[in-house]
Amino acid sequence: MTDAARPCVIAGNWKMYKTIDQALSFLDIILPVAPKCDCEVLLAVPFTIIESAAKKAEASPVLIGAQNMNDASEGAFTGEVAASMLKDAGAKFVLLGHSERRTIFKETDEFINRKIKRASEIGLLSVLCVGETNEEREGEKTREVLKQQLSKCLEGVKYEKGKLMVAYEPVWAIGTGKAATNTIAEEAHAFIRGVLRELYGEEVANGMPILYGGSVNASNAATFLKEPDVDGLLIGSASLGAESFAKILELRQNRANT
Ligand code: 13P
Repeated sequence: MTDAARPCVIAGNWKMYKTIDQALSFLDIILPVAPKCDCEVLLAVPFTIIESAAKKAEASPVLIGAQNMNDASEGAFTGEVAASMLKDAGAKFVLLGHSERRTIFKETDEFINRKIKRASEIGLLSVLCVGETNEEREGEKTREVLKQQLSKCLEGVKYEKGKLMVAYEPVWAIGTGKAATNTIAEEAHAFIRGVLRELYGEEVANGMPILYGGSVNASNAATFLKEPDVDGLLIGSASLGAESFAKILELRQNRANT
């Protein structure tokens, strides 16, 4: 299996940062860079930015998406946002199951499962985030945790091409400056692909991008991308600066021109 069968995906997660003006200035720098790179570029932005960023990125290969949504189609859920509303605002994808949602907002695998089903009904690409805590890794529970998160979150989810990706984000590596090594990432990604194989079969598992996230920056990004099962990156703080994000995209630039 070579990585040629899967697209490379470079995704940014802006979390709760940026105003609309700041987002549009970021896009002024990134939009000319993205078409020269051999990768799909995704930006998960705050809800308030989706519409204006999606309009600005419309004719470009950059996809604008959300960082969360509710599982219900609509209803009396004060403060929540539905998948159809994200689509209406121009979102093409949604991050689901991010560890900050799981830990701070107590989201369960069952809730995330319902969200993935709703996103798929609406036609949004789901980027499902999974990953173990430091305690779980030290207790040698990483595989068990990953398997449980994947099987519960994907239970009954029908695979549709281009509508599902997985991001491996070890909780201990998020926002800590302590990225996983490329070996740790590759081992987890290969394991995740094995679970996807059990759930969806060889062809689907081999075609599904698995991204690594957790303290990725312009200096360490290349070491992850050379691993056979690491198909892309999900970047937090280093996606906030247009220059640092552009540097990461440029790692894929020569490939598009060769
Ligand atoms: P950092 O890149 O800031 O560690 O964040 C990773 C992340 O949570 C992306 O979803």
